[in-house]
Amino acid sequence: MSLSQLKAVLPVAGLGTRMLPATKEQPKEMLPIFAKTHNGELCVKPLLHLVFEQLYNEGIREFIFVVGRGKRTVEDYFTPDYSYVELLKNSGKKAAEELNKFYKMIENSTLIWVNQPEPRGFGHAVLITQKVVGSNPFIVHAGDTYIISHGIERPLAKMFRKFLEEKAEAILLLQEVENPRQYGIAEITEKNEELIVQRVVEKPEKPTTNLAIMPIYIFRHTIFDALNTIKPGVGGELQLTDGIQELINQGKKVIAIKLDKNSIRLDIGNPTQYWEAIQQSYTHGRGADK
Ligand code: UTP
Repeated sequence: MSLSQLKAVLPVAGLGTRMLPATKEQPKEMLPIFAKTHNGELCVKPLLHLVFEQLYNEGIREFIFVVGRGKRTVEDYFTPDYSYVELLKNSGKKAAEELNKFYKMIENSTLIWVNQPEPRGFGHAVLITQKVVGSNPFIVHAGDTYIISHGIERPLAKMFRKFLEEKAEAILLLQEVENPRQYGIAEITEKNEELIVQRVVEKPEKPTTNLAIMPIYIFRHTIFDALNTIKPGVGGELQLTDGIQELINQGKKVIAIKLDKNSIRLDIGNPTQYWEAIQQSYTHGRGADK
């Protein structure tokens, strides 16, 4: 099995309350950051556009978006509009080419929209995709985080390689952070360069490690059984982290890789993170981070 055969689940149905009032009518995942066009020029794209492009460039062609009330903009954005491309072309606008390329990617892909009527948690958003995901391993990628990678091996490719090599049930992406309380964290043991996850905790009051879980995962279908078993956790929401802990409790092998130091995580969850994402993406977009 190759990475390109995996389906990607993109939960984008959260309320984005930490980014209010900007996110009252505008989905958080559609907030713009800086990027490069295909020609390497600086441009501005919604973060979700970048996540889609990155997964597409890994060969992924099946995308399952979890959307809810107020997220129609996402569906509209991912619906090719060639008359608009024509209009841009006719008036000599350079953006026509970029948009055209994006629409071709969409046409080469299958996009499935799953409705989460109420934001009952990240874990719940994943759980409701069970039928469309089917029995194969799959990727979960949050719609508000984007990794710029300068490493030798791209994070998702490395995750998939390790996932297969170590016959894992799930693989997590970890990053050392200074403020672990606002994340899910992982306790790990290292054995022959293998990082085995022993315990995960969502937003701990007293974090036992500074290893934050990035919202990018590869799972087998067993995560669905685990999510079906657990009860709502932090914030009264069904937490994906608790589902992962349930896998561990069942004796399943959960492993991790650490995000290499050359990669940058852009997160637009709260205003400070958004400001950092704007700055870092601008530096990257201008090609000034090499
Ligand atoms: P977050 O917890 O960061 O997003 O979820 P949120 O709940 O929208 O943010 P706040 O806390 O209110 O500010 C990570 C990703 O999971 C999606 C979000 O849209 C985001 O992309 N999500 C979250 C869902 O799809 N459904 C949910 O019930 C919760």
